[in-house]
Amino acid sequence: MSDVTRRELAYHEKLYSGFAQRHFARPAVRALRRDMVRRILAVTGAGPRSRVLSLGCGIGDTEMLLAPHVAEIAGVDLSPAAIRQACADAQRLAIANARFVEGTAAEGRYDIVIAIFFLHHLSDPDLESFPARLRDLLLPGGAFYSLDPSCRRLSGAIGRRLIPGMMKRYQTEDERELNPEATAALFTRAGFSARTSMYDFGSSPLAGLLPGWSFGYRLARAADGLILRTPLARYGSNFEVLATPPSK
Ligand SMILES: C[S@@+](CC[C@H](N)C(=O)[O-])C[C@H]1O[C@@H](n2cnc3c(N)ncnc32)[C@H](O)[C@@H]1O
Repeated sequence: MSDVTRRELAYHEKLYSGFAQRHFARPAVRALRRDMVRRILAVTGAGPRSRVLSLGCGIGDTEMLLAPHVAEIAGVDLSPAAIRQACADAQRLAIANARFVEGTAAEGRYDIVIAIFFLHHLSDPDLESFPARLRDLLLPGGAFYSLDPSCRRLSGAIGRRLIPGMMKRYQTEDERELNPEATAALFTRAGFSARTSMYDFGSSPLAGLLPGWSFGYRLARAADGLILRTPLARYGSNFEVLATPPSK
């Protein structure tokens, strides 16, 4: 295990020992997760026959919302605490088509692979080699979808000025905001067709900051819909990569 992976593991074991479970259950975060699922379904074309893999699934709260819409979903995460929670929740909610596995590598082949706030936690070498690894996980005609913070995000620049301590507390030592175009280029270089788009402007950071205020989140999400059609989109918070594999 690399030093980065070791530090990620230590941080997330702590995060998933109670705080994440409470935070992710708050109404604005739940609303954000529901929006994410709608977006994943719309952009990837995932449906009732799709086999889906989620890399870095955490406690699986997005995956549990996605499960009713797809044939099956498998989640993989480095953190044993996260996987224990995800398995317990799947059982409690009687979600039979979701399974969660501890580790850094996935097995099998899937129609859709998703990576929600995952790529920006990988070390540079692991990020560079990620598209080549992904090729072995995707079935022909499949799709990959990721969501990560943008290095141009205005919310990050403001947060670093106004609430630097809080920003640090909620971030691992090694994670960093990614350049959308450079990230998409990693996939293109590996033979994928890849495009990037901005997911939001202020709504996800607001949900993180004020997780109890779902009305505020809804307003921010509606405002995002307008802002993302303007040049300000360039300074949005989180970007998506949609990549489709080369035909063999
Ligand atoms: C920011 S969290 C996102 C979790 C989840 N997708 C979500 O949206 O809440 C990043 C996740 O990636 C996991 N992770 C970090 N490095 C990993 C690796 N090399 N392999 C598998 N999981 C990893 C961490 O344990 C953590 O759960």
